Amino acid sequence: VLEFAGVSAATLAETYGTPLVVIDLEVVDAAIDAFVHACAPHGVEISYAAKAFVSIGFARHLLARGLGLDVCSTGELLIAQRAGYAPSGLTLHGAGKTDDDLRAAAQGLVGRIAVDGIDELRRLAAAARAQRVDVLLRLNSGVEARTHAFVRTGGDDTKFGIHPRDEADAAAIIAAHPHLRFAGLHAHMGSQIYDSQAFAGHAEALVDAAARFAGYGLMSEQAVVGGGFGVATQRGADERPLDLDETIATLVRRTAQRAQALGIPVPRIGIEPGRAIVAAAGTTLYRVQALKRQTTRTFVVVDGGMTDNPRPAIYGARHHVASVRRPGAADIDVTISGRSCENDELGPARLPHDLQAGDLLAMETTGAYTFSMASNYNRFPRPAVVAVEGGKHRLFIRRETLDDVIRTDADG
Ligand SMILES: Cc1ncc(COP(=O)(O)O)c(C=O)c1O
Repeated sequence: VLEFAGVSAATLAETYGTPLVVIDLEVVDAAIDAFVHACAPHGVEISYAAKAFVSIGFARHLLARGLGLDVCSTGELLIAQRAGYAPSGLTLHGAGKTDDDLRAAAQGLVGRIAVDGIDELRRLAAAARAQRVDVLLRLNSGVEARTHAFVRTGGDDTKFGIHPRDEADAAAIIAAHPHLRFAGLHAHMGSQIYDSQAFAGHAEALVDAAARFAGYGLMSEQAVVGGGFGVATQRGADERPLDLDETIATLVRRTAQRAQALGIPVPRIGIEPGRAIVAAAGTTLYRVQALKRQTTRTFVVVDGGMTDNPRPAIYGARHHVASVRRPGAADIDVTISGRSCENDELGPARLPHDLQAGDLLAMETTGAYTFSMASNYNRFPRPAVVAVEGGKHRLFIRRETLDDVIRTDADG
């Protein structure tokens, strides 16, 4: 019997319907404990990246465990406020901040803002007239990580971060605006990184940048190295879990060594994990709608798909899928597919040969970047999210109704 924190998958599906995202808070807590264990001895600050998954209840859970929160929109900020986060616990991110975003920072609704470009810094300087705003400058460390290796690239060609050629301008803007207080530097390498050396190299690159800013008279109290801590997503895949204790200890040591070698104060380090806190804690329950034997493949069509989990479509992500009712029967190769009017394949799976419409399937490791990326394509209602812990379950987010789906229609 498939269970989450002592609650059976069948009970959850009957109580809340499907598709259903189940968040096992015991798994979340184990992930938080692992980060705290690795970070606390070194004074490394942990701020959870809300974009991975957030709800008011989930944010309250994180707040009670002492985590900061990274928000990247006024929508995520509203959730953080409703959860009870004080501004000091919040960092505002975003690659294209709107006037509303900048006003939120200028009004002191967040403890700090990670500024992602020169234009944005100028706009923030114009908006911040009443009170002091703590600013992190987001850079590119130039370190590109692959699953098992990392390289230093000459210059990162993504939209993120302030380019090295603009650093002097950024420093001059801050120096000219007394309401902007330079708190330090930020850079985020990417996602699903399993190489601890990549994190250390990335942190060193940030210290090098801190030395350049020190040359402009701006001392970096903080160096925030972003998220991207790798988690296993598919059983049997070639993904070695990252040793967090070793990763954090190494990056802290190498940061200190580099800062001492460059003769600058050692910055306080911050990290921003998202996926590594919530991915493994999430499972999506689907009901099989149909089995279709086509020319070469058998498709299992489920009652969700790219609308509740766009990761397979966007990134080719793979998730392990298990049958809830009939595990152990002789398996056959199938392709899981959603019910959208698209080729929304969710990936291959091995499932019992006697699988039928109405059976429940559990798709694993769907806690991160699934619900938070969900859409109403085909006017499907978004699924419910339920939290389980200690044999009990409660809703984090209720299932959308059809009224919700059309509520913004002006002619309704
Ligand atoms: C700035 C920043 N910090 C943290 C994260 C979280 O990354 P992950 O969920 O891979 O840990 C992201 C993800 O895109 C990000 O852009």
